[in-house]
Amino acid sequence: MKKSGLDQGIPRPDAVAKATGRSLYHADRVFPKMLYGVIVGSKVACGTITRLNVEKARAMPGVRAVLTHENLDANNRIGLIFDDQTLLCSDTVRMAGDRVALIAADSIHEAKRAARAVEVEITKSPGVYDVRTALDADSPLVHPSGNCFKEFHVRRGDFDQEVINADIVLDEEFVIGGQEHAYLETQGTTAVPQPDGSYEVYSTTQCPFYIRGRVSRMLGVAHNQIRVIQTVTGGAFGGKEDYPDEPAMCAVALAKATGRPVQIVFPRDFDMQVTTKRHPMVIRHKLFAEKTGKIMGVKVEILVDSGAYAGLSTVVAERANISAVGPYDIDNIEVTTKVIYTNNLFGGPYRGFGAPQVSAAHEGQMDRLAALLGKDPMEIRRLNGVSDSTPHFASGETLAQPHLYGELLSRMEKLSDWDKLRKKAASSTDPRYIEGVGMGTIIYGVNLHWGGSRLDRGAAYLIILNDGSVSLSVGITDMGQGALAAMRTICAAALGIREDRIRIAEADTAMVPDSGPTVASRATMSGGNAVIDAARQLNERLAPFALELLGVTDDTKLTAEMGIYSHPDSTDTVTFEKVVERLYGERINPAAVGWYRSESREYYPETGQGQAYPFYAFGGHVVHLAIDKETGQIKIKNVFAVHDVGKIINRVGIEGQVHGGTVQGLGWATMEEFRLREGVMLNAGFTDYLIPTSLDVPESIEMDFIEEPEAQGPFGAKGIGEPSFISVGGAVLNAVAHATGKPVTSLPLTPETVFNIMKS
Ligand code: MOS
Repeated sequence: MKKSGLDQGIPRPDAVAKATGRSLYHADRVFPKMLYGVIVGSKVACGTITRLNVEKARAMPGVRAVLTHENLDANNRIGLIFDDQTLLCSDTVRMAGDRVALIAADSIHEAKRAARAVEVEITKSPGVYDVRTALDADSPLVHPSGNCFKEFHVRRGDFDQEVINADIVLDEEFVIGGQEHAYLETQGTTAVPQPDGSYEVYSTTQCPFYIRGRVSRMLGVAHNQIRVIQTVTGGAFGGKEDYPDEPAMCAVALAKATGRPVQIVFPRDFDMQVTTKRHPMVIRHKLFAEKTGKIMGVKVEILVDSGAYAGLSTVVAERANISAVGPYDIDNIEVTTKVIYTNNLFGGPYRGFGAPQVSAAHEGQMDRLAALLGKDPMEIRRLNGVSDSTPHFASGETLAQPHLYGELLSRMEKLSDWDKLRKKAASSTDPRYIEGVGMGTIIYGVNLHWGGSRLDRGAAYLIILNDGSVSLSVGITDMGQGALAAMRTICAAALGIREDRIRIAEADTAMVPDSGPTVASRATMSGGNAVIDAARQLNERLAPFALELLGVTDDTKLTAEMGIYSHPDSTDTVTFEKVVERLYGERINPAAVGWYRSESREYYPETGQGQAYPFYAFGGHVVHLAIDKETGQIKIKNVFAVHDVGKIINRVGIEGQVHGGTVQGLGWATMEEFRLREGVMLNAGFTDYLIPTSLDVPESIEMDFIEEPEAQGPFGAKGIGEPSFISVGGAVLNAVAHATGKPVTSLPLTPETVFNIMKS
């Protein structure tokens, strides 16, 4: 095992419990007198409830509560950013699975039986199933306010006649599919009423503070009446960002009605139908260029399929909007992003937050431009990419490390042996397979966009116990990605102690201040900076005792490493434990709350100009694939990934992120597809919704990391969660174009689609 970064090479804090099956996932938590909750959802995506009768269900054995909008003792309006959603529908249903009733019973079987006894009749009405026609004058309306509920813009420079009459105009429509998160652990919540009238809520979630906020609003109670405890979370990928609020509100409503703990665990088919998905997008991308290949301007129109409710779609669209032209410094930019209601699946956050969809389009266009001019894809990107002489992001801001894009291209070229690999693929003589090599690159704004920057904070609560062991609580969450390990590593390095002296567990809203959501590849940065801030405060209190015990005075030369303090003016050393003993002996406060907040930024949403993100990371993938000429099936051969990460905190962790992001991206790009009939998912299950298995993993995933420290990151680290995914789609799209010699403008590239491309 290669070891680099700060980690001390010990297993992750959650590793042993997970490997031995002892971790307590949400459904493993049971409470005395606990009831089982079931949600009754609409079978159709668009219609009017004409009859809803729950009397039979209520009389079924074991049933303790049946709730409809009529007897819900809570605020039924649960919209997140827009006031467009109810907990329980009263007359209109807008998506398949829209809730009409909630049931709590002594056993899950009784709850399910009662659910089947709910009499609900819904008269279907014409729905909206295509974003391309959703804005037509004769389209039905999902909500009376209109189907486009938000627009975002970028306006930079102007499209004068010279640009409009450019030598080259590439006008293309990209149709990009959505994606199911396919976390292994489905959604769920257990709500436990407390003797004092408050509630404990156990949830598999990325964002416990979101749950606290929405549940307390629903009940009309203070935030301190709701304690949200994150349970060990079996995958999330954005799917447990806002969505877990909904099962939490359902469970709490039932717990309130019955006075007993209520647990809801989503069955897989229900989870797939109702929870948020990666947004399908239609991207019209128009590129204006000189004969030299220099891009003069880009116009993009993005239609975002939000499904029936807004949720966090506007936040996702905001990132898509500003990322639409990619890592290129372009003088004239016009991006319009429309967020649109339909009766399709509920759109929401998913690893990359709208960037993967637009990246497939801008990278597709770069390769088309290169092919048209007979240039190499690397060359066209060097010509247009940001650099020290052209350092601007689409927002007009000057990037701090623009040279890293050129460095990225060089590393990708070297790692993949680009020229040779492209030539080798193009000259393959296999009678059955054709081969292609494609690349995709991205610029990723790490952390929250300006639009969400009020949430950009983080907290850590660090207590040094009497024996020198350490208890650490953070407000960011681990959903499997290794955030707890990263926090522990950063804490150990900042205090100068051994990692195994630190205990850290899942987030609990009663332990730490609201740290914002764990999204946008911000966990390491925001949580890590908060941990460093807490450690700094404690180091200031510990240092005088360390100096005293070492018999020296100059605190600037004091060092602590692996639990041992030393100083160049002393031949002695002293242990962390001894110093802590003195701290306690003098009754000095052994605890500290660390805090992080990003600098405030200026940004003008009308033009998309200003400082969109705190800082940026570059990333890229090269994909080498083969296509079966008879079936159109893609076989991924090798993938080469390069990421600009600032500083590696944990080598194994970062490699795991790149492996996972790459394979998840390949799934999205080649096989994952929703089969919908009027908003109803026909393939809601892992039998028919295909995700990559171990057999679909490429022969190799090679990686390289650029480590040039980021001033705002903990120890210089940036973030890797989402970048590891984002550039995969574009690389696959370009590899298929390379193999087939045909234009490729859609994802996923399923065998059927690829077959049709070959025959076109
Ligand atoms: Mo997210 S897609 O968890 O920012």
